[in-house]
Amino acid sequence: MRHSLRSSLLLLLSSPLSALATLPPSTIFTLPPPLLPGSWFENIAVRPNGKILATRGDAPEIWQIDPATGQGSLLISVAGAFNLTGIAPVTPLSPPPRPRHHNRPGTRDGPSAVPSPASVETYIFASSHIPAPLQVTPGSAKVWTLRIPLTTAPATATLLAALPAAGFLNGITPWTAGRVLISDTEAEAIYLMDVSTGTYTTPLTGLVGVNGIRAVRAATGTGGYVYRADHASLTLSRIPVDAAAVATGPAEVLVQQQLIDDFAVMQGGDGAGKAYLGGMYTNEVVEIVFGAFGTGVGTRRVVATDLTGTGTGLVTVAAFGRRNSDAGFLYAAAGQGGGNAAIVRVDPGV
Ligand SMILES: *[C@@H]1O[C@H](CO)[C@@H](O)[C@H](O)[C@H]1NC(C)=O
Repeated sequence: MRHSLRSSLLLLLSSPLSALATLPPSTIFTLPPPLLPGSWFENIAVRPNGKILATRGDAPEIWQIDPATGQGSLLISVAGAFNLTGIAPVTPLSPPPRPRHHNRPGTRDGPSAVPSPASVETYIFASSHIPAPLQVTPGSAKVWTLRIPLTTAPATATLLAALPAAGFLNGITPWTAGRVLISDTEAEAIYLMDVSTGTYTTPLTGLVGVNGIRAVRAATGTGGYVYRADHASLTLSRIPVDAAAVATGPAEVLVQQQLIDDFAVMQGGDGAGKAYLGGMYTNEVVEIVFGAFGTGVGTRRVVATDLTGTGTGLVTVAAFGRRNSDAGFLYAAAGQGGGNAAIVRVDPGV
């Protein structure tokens, strides 16, 4: 999320980036007219069927885009919300296919690999009132449940919890079944919410600059790792946590001096893996390759530049494709580049 970042951006623009892009990014969907140069998607979730759910940061809308056809439409307009932020599934889902270019088994961010017999997919998303860039109305934070029936019935959004004491709800990631983690950028905390009741604990605090978050559960045991972007110190780090998402050790920084928003991550059992992140006002998607637990800062590579195609704008998030035909590709959200908000396909080319 574009939050107090302009000074960070200036800092970054004066530092050299290590690599050039590979294949050019390909815009697969753009919001239809009228022209909305201020439009932006804040976050995306890829459904098990491969379709993309995209939350608008400039309107209370969730759009659904089919990457196979490039067709997209308004899935739902949320009465009582202004600006939508994070979105994450809560129904246990099948694991996504292995990426095309990746030949080491690993665990993606996302729910555990339990097939769901449910006739409805359930997602949690957040909203805040952001009347203008860098302004969040105090007490406006809300968490919602999105239900998408696997029939022709329409999707519904219902208020799960108003969080008047919260600041700015930003990223959301699944944790154990029926629970999600939600980052609060202003409170510098991560909440663990029970999605059947809307009640929550605050297992992680003191997280200055917390923005996008992703969780990877341990293959054995009950805890795992919370990966989190910090747009204040320009880092991506991971925190070992127990089942209640309470830290069990120090955070490990995986990249420094990186303007960062939301991201996708894959991690093997030894901790080695990759993250792909939206570079915010750098208008890029960046790959971080990191090693086993405890090996610290990894290597950075810019995989796609100028996603808006106009030389300006922002990239807020990257996510993995989930179909066999697009596993290994990334989908990123690009906006505020002068045209309308767009979903862009990126080939990390590795
Ligand atoms: C937040 O949403 C409102 C409409 O609900 C819009 O007018 C405003 O521009 C949005 N804020 C940002 C920063 O896009």
